[in-house]
Amino acid sequence: MRFVESQIIAGDCAEVLRNYQDNFFDLIVTSPPYADSRKATYGGIRPEEYVEWFLPKSEQFLRVLKPTGTFILNIKEKVTQGERNTYVIELILALRRQGWLWTEEFIWHKRNCHPGKWPNRFRDAWERCLQFNKDRKFNMYQESVMVPMGAWARTRLKRLGKNDVIRFDSQVGSGFGKNIANWVGREKAYPSNVLHLATETDNRSHSATFPRALPEWFIKLFTQENDWVLDPFVGSGTTCEVAQRLHRNSVGIDIHQQYVELAQEKVKPLQRLLLEESGTYGRTRKKQTKRAKQKRIK
Ligand SMILES: C[S@@+](CC[C@H](N)C(=O)[O-])C[C@H]1O[C@@H](n2cnc3c(N)ncnc32)[C@H](O)[C@@H]1O
Repeated sequence: MRFVESQIIAGDCAEVLRNYQDNFFDLIVTSPPYADSRKATYGGIRPEEYVEWFLPKSEQFLRVLKPTGTFILNIKEKVTQGERNTYVIELILALRRQGWLWTEEFIWHKRNCHPGKWPNRFRDAWERCLQFNKDRKFNMYQESVMVPMGAWARTRLKRLGKNDVIRFDSQVGSGFGKNIANWVGREKAYPSNVLHLATETDNRSHSATFPRALPEWFIKLFTQENDWVLDPFVGSGTTCEVAQRLHRNSVGIDIHQQYVELAQEKVKPLQRLLLEESGTYGRTRKKQTKRAKQKRIK
């Protein structure tokens, strides 16, 4: 018999996490309150105080994350007095000083962002998903997020030129080389670091939910079944709901009791997995572990 655990806990994440041992979680994926946003409901941290507010929390994240784990931070700076605020950039620098590696930045492109018009800028259709790690070697299961090759492959790979069948160095001197012929006959390709996801409108009890597809993509990419996922600012419980569906254990923390109750409605503290599912699980895990070894990056 196998169980998936989901713990939803009320409190300040920096305090709650003191009860967890070092190197416990495989993935932290979260969207904290953005500076000066949604003062009426939660947050309202001033941009100039944001780094100071965040660092005691990220110190705990650093402690409880496994060396092979990943921390994904979904955040975006607002425009104030005609300029983009710099607090996210300052936060990245402060996190690096705290001991994190700023490994990658994914862009969440909001496919259905609100229409609008401003005299000096266009509508804001993307948010940052910053990736931080403790070590240069971390677990990454790239096959789990592969995408269909798409129509371009049918035309581009039909007739290959002489430069397509050897590793061909970029003609613009970018230093990137490619061997297009490697992709002939393949059904799937690796995705880019831009995620095209629509916001969801079915979750009206919390004002700042992210779409389920966002934590889902990162959970698949950075964890396997039975691993532990943390969302220290869990809000309505999206991350834990998705983690449970994907058979990952999870912990979600929120400082507001009303959101804790909302999140608790979405997940069972213990989900029993059927025996047939355990069978599939055994096979999948074996395969993935082998692949994981190949895909570990340096
Ligand atoms: C942007 S929302 C997260 C929404 C979530 N991703 C979802 O899909 O529902 C940020 C959450 O952080 C919570 N929060 C603010 N300060 C906190 C703290 N110190 N510890 C834990 N949670 C906190 C807020 O109550 C809010 O629900």
